[in-house]
Amino acid sequence: KNIVILISGRGSNMQAIVDADIPGARIAAVIANRPDAAGLAWAAARGIATVGLDHKQFASREAFDAQLAAEIDAFAPDLVVLAGFMRILTPAFTARYEGRMLNIHPSLLPSFPGLHTHQRAIDMGCKVAGCTVHFVTAELDHGPIVAQAVVPVLDDDTETTLAARVLQQEHRLYPEAVRRFAAGELQIRNGRIGGVDAA
Ligand code: GRF
Repeated sequence: KNIVILISGRGSNMQAIVDADIPGARIAAVIANRPDAAGLAWAAARGIATVGLDHKQFASREAFDAQLAAEIDAFAPDLVVLAGFMRILTPAFTARYEGRMLNIHPSLLPSFPGLHTHQRAIDMGCKVAGCTVHFVTAELDHGPIVAQAVVPVLDDDTETTLAARVLQQEHRLYPEAVRRFAAGELQIRNGRIGGVDAA
């Protein structure tokens, strides 16, 4: 299975997926919406094709997404993996990769879609937090959930300490989700993964 990973920054989730050496999964390319994304240099040093696409060079979100899709499709991916990719994607783009694009979000969806998820969980007095791998749909942070991991929120947690605890789980959860996709184990039925078929 050919995989293209999209990043915006350090790409620690991308690194975890590459380092997992998933059987049957070939990382064809790492693409970033910022040419200076640290993850690009890390991937290039491992002989992985990289593309830096500066979204600021494009007149519109649609124009950027069209070029991004062209760059992605050049690698003929079976799966597109968003890993710390901090862009809102247009509906045309998400429709193009429906059923073969994953994202990881640092909360237990459907709680805390959007940004600053750890601070929001702390502010609400949550006792657990975590991360979610899901298929990407047009609705932000909303597609069929593939996997989740839970961590405790400690009384003295700060956004930094909680984020670090969740990130550790992300680096376990995401490679496992990619492995399951590569093994053909992720079937979406009635908008869900797994579970029993509706009677
Ligand atoms: C992580 O918290 C991830 O959940 C979110 O972006 C953050 C940075 O990820 N999507 P990475 O280190 O760039 O993979």
